[in-house]
Amino acid sequence: MIRRKIILITGANGEVGHGLIQKLGERDDRLPIVVLDIKQLDSALRPFVSRVVVGDILDTKLLETLSTEYEIDTIFHLAALLSTSSEFNPENAHRVNVQGTVNLLKMAIDQGEARGRPVKFLYASSIAAYGMPNLAVKQQAGAVTEEQYLEPITMYGCNKLYCEHLGRYYARHYRQLSAQRAVGVDFRCVRFPGLISAVTVPTGGTSDYAPEMLHAAAQGKPYAAFVREDTTIPFMVMPDAIKALLMLADAPRERLSRLVYNVTSFSRSAGELADMVRAAFPGAQITFQPSDARQSIVDSWPSAVDDSAARRDWGWMPDFDAERAFNDYLIPTIVERYRSPA
Ligand code: SER
Repeated sequence: MIRRKIILITGANGEVGHGLIQKLGERDDRLPIVVLDIKQLDSALRPFVSRVVVGDILDTKLLETLSTEYEIDTIFHLAALLSTSSEFNPENAHRVNVQGTVNLLKMAIDQGEARGRPVKFLYASSIAAYGMPNLAVKQQAGAVTEEQYLEPITMYGCNKLYCEHLGRYYARHYRQLSAQRAVGVDFRCVRFPGLISAVTVPTGGTSDYAPEMLHAAAQGKPYAAFVREDTTIPFMVMPDAIKALLMLADAPRERLSRLVYNVTSFSRSAGELADMVRAAFPGAQITFQPSDARQSIVDSWPSAVDDSAARRDWGWMPDFDAERAFNDYLIPTIVERYRSPA
């Protein structure tokens, strides 16, 4: 039986999944896309995919069935419980974020062994992998490299950092003690900053104050941000996040000097973001009512990240700085979105 070669996307119905499926859908040269999500796929994305599998990455039987049915060329593993959600049930978050990733890495390993060539495994990690010890250090540190300040304070951050290590283990070390394990996995990881999309709103993240204030203003609704005005972390708009994933997926392996790469576009404080939103929507009612728990999470994330390795190794360069992000992408797209709700 000849198995169909596919791209598998987990967490396809999430924010990054939306952007990725749409972008891949525009490519003529792409393989068929099979998506796996715990929720039914948004009907707007249906035309771009060959098959929707509604199921759980913890269901190993389901993963085995998919692995038997298809030759999986590339996996974009996006499924995760985000940082705020994870704090409400950390052990469940651990199961989904860590065991789910192990299941997919094992699936990739088995596929690679069967065909004698490693599966490309794109993993979406996060700025949450960092843990700045206090605000003074955060302010002094400036743009942090991939190796600095890795003491995350959330379950989600611990999960992301550990899964980066698991990717490294399976890519580089899993094979060493067994001749039967010849192939491994081609693990590639992007550590994303806070993401802002004009078409979707995230659920359960802690960088969500930025997209939430924008989407509320576009709908004429008041919004109370759960952080202080001076709170600063790096951000990126969704088209740049998708660009980063696809550039890393397309990069020749020999150009990659590492497995985990920071990417970033612009760092702005919550107050500066609010000013940009007010400039676009003069009636916007944005206030600041910090929540201790969520504030401490964002305070533990660096105010900027150093993405020079990605720039050097695979030519990473965001298309959008803050001004372009608002003027050319966020504002026009969001105005359109709420004019004709999706
Ligand atoms: N945006 C994510 C969160 O806030 C971080 O990756 O949880």
